[in-house]
Amino acid sequence: MTSRRTAVVTGASSGIGAATARALAAQGFHVYCAARREDRVTGLAAEIGGTPVVCDVTSEESVAALAATVGDRLDVLVNNAGGAFGGSPVAAADSDEWRRMYEVNVIGLMQVTRALLPALLASGAGAILNVGSTAGRIAYEGGAGYTAAKHGTQVVTETLRLELWDQPVRVMEIAPGMVRTDEFALVRFEGDQEKADAVYAGVAEPLTAEDVADAISWMVTRPPHVNIDELVLRPRAQAAQHKVHRVL
Ligand SMILES: NC(=O)c1ccc[n+]([C@@H]2O[C@H](COP(=O)([O-])OP(=O)(O)OC[C@H]3O[C@@H](n4cnc5c(N)ncnc54)[C@H](OP(=O)(O)O)[C@@H]3O)[C@@H](O)[C@H]2O)c1
Repeated sequence: MTSRRTAVVTGASSGIGAATARALAAQGFHVYCAARREDRVTGLAAEIGGTPVVCDVTSEESVAALAATVGDRLDVLVNNAGGAFGGSPVAAADSDEWRRMYEVNVIGLMQVTRALLPALLASGAGAILNVGSTAGRIAYEGGAGYTAAKHGTQVVTETLRLELWDQPVRVMEIAPGMVRTDEFALVRFEGDQEKADAVYAGVAEPLTAEDVADAISWMVTRPPHVNIDELVLRPRAQAAQHKVHRVL
């Protein structure tokens, strides 16, 4: 138990989640750092004075253990765990990859939200921030499994905001465009560094994990009556999904 404001960040073992955990700790939050890789969350929690939680958001049992660790009261939930797997066109889609994307980006987000909602309401001014994507706003070739899942993130966010309209909790979504994190593209292309690097080729300044964390931190620290429904942010070089300024 802690008397400080508390936050749960899922997917805190790398990229945007780790940067968000650091940013919220710098704002005075006690942060529960949740992800599957124990060494990563343990190291981060030690660095920022938080609590590590080994958690697979796709497992109800694991999410129940997260909720038990957090206890009766929680101020902020950042549902960041997610990702893209593969990039085949629909005609050659891998059913298992599609299931995994829906599991982590939609069902995982729902399970963590459902489990932590009582504690968020008990705070009297809770905030739920879902990490969506510009992939939840458009379509692109080879991306249907991920875009479908991230459209799901967006729609679940909107639905939840309607359902909780008379409750003391804000429901928000951030939708980043191109963010250069160490692992996102590498995970998508199963460790193929060349394919991962090609995503960012020639782009002088993609967003960084810290840019997104800074925006998340701003959103959740607005006064309790101010709901930033959705915030879309992209690097200046990315005017739209298909219009990226590259100098090759
Ligand atoms: N990078 C981009 O261009 C970009 C753009 C828009 C939106 N996003 C979204 O931003 C979020 C973070 O992405 P990122 O770029 O920071 O990528 P990342 O470094 O690959 O981070 C993904 C995080 O999710 C965690 N995770 C994956 N499956 C999980 C599970 N079943 N249970 C718990 N945690 C799980 C991973 O940790 P473990 O493997 O340790 O569990 C990792 O910490 C994702 O939702 C992604 O869709 C990324």
